[in-house]
Amino acid sequence: MTSRDPWTGLTHPPAPDDELWGLFHENSKVGRHYLGLPDAAVLARMRELSESLSYEQYRAVPLPSDRAPLSAPLGPVMRGRTSVRAFRPDTVALRQLSSLLHHAYGVTRPSAETGQVRSWRAAPSPGGLYPLELYVHTTLVDGLRAGLYHYSPARDELRHLREGDLAREIASCFVQGAIAYDAPMFVFLTAWFERVTFKYGDRGYRFALLEAGHVAQNLNLAAGALGLGALNLGGYFDHELDDLLGLDGVTASTVYALALGRPDTSERAAEPRGD
Ligand SMILES: Cc1cc2nc3c(=O)[nH]c(=O)nc-3n(C[C@H](O)[C@H](O)[C@H](O)COP(=O)(O)O)c2cc1C
Repeated sequence: MTSRDPWTGLTHPPAPDDELWGLFHENSKVGRHYLGLPDAAVLARMRELSESLSYEQYRAVPLPSDRAPLSAPLGPVMRGRTSVRAFRPDTVALRQLSSLLHHAYGVTRPSAETGQVRSWRAAPSPGGLYPLELYVHTTLVDGLRAGLYHYSPARDELRHLREGDLAREIASCFVQGAIAYDAPMFVFLTAWFERVTFKYGDRGYRFALLEAGHVAQNLNLAAGALGLGALNLGGYFDHELDDLLGLDGVTASTVYALALGRPDTSERAAEPRGD
């Protein structure tokens, strides 16, 4: 019997070693020599870093604690998930938005209960560091003025950062801008890299993106259970979108975006949209 080369039959050419992604991937691998920071140093740094942004000077909007329940069974919700590319102009209830955000990245057990430095959240996070911040743009949420908001998981509230319908500005930030006029809600997932790279170095960057995937999937499934749908969007102009959110693009930057609302399943929705 001849020993079989495990790569035989693969049709991919070898990864070029001068591409940025290849260099990054190679340089963010964990080696056995890697010792990491001592636990005491990690805890000290965690105490210095904010758990979540506060936006103290902005108007607070408490999120209703009687959140819309996710009572739909998981199997049908998962099987029914599909990208929603047209939304109905229906109002979304604040209880639904509250439920979406809570199930995406909300606090599930406060630190006062667990005795740990960070409260537990609905999404897993490497080292429990929670490097993400969520921003929401809404035009059609009942009881919320149109505008841009920041979500605080610890306080279970929004802070109203910018007043008014920003669909035009948001549209100019996306490759497929038309969706911004259609979707009643957008959630922007942003990463504050130092919160995770101080411990994990370059691999922390990978971790921030992986965590964003968890949060996005939570949003997809919670949306499905609430009779809503989502379009996950990676095609945005980073500088423009970070500017819109007030991020410098280095310390913090947008890593993912989701358009959310009630799906439009009519024939109109099936027409070509010219994106
Ligand atoms: C990371 C990521 C980025 C995406 N970015 C876009 C995007 O910018 N525009 C878009 O129309 N769809 C985007 N999508 C949606 C995919 O096109 C879609 O999930 C895929 O076609 C499979 O279809 P389905 O979601 O209906 O199963 C993205 C999906 C992922 C996972």
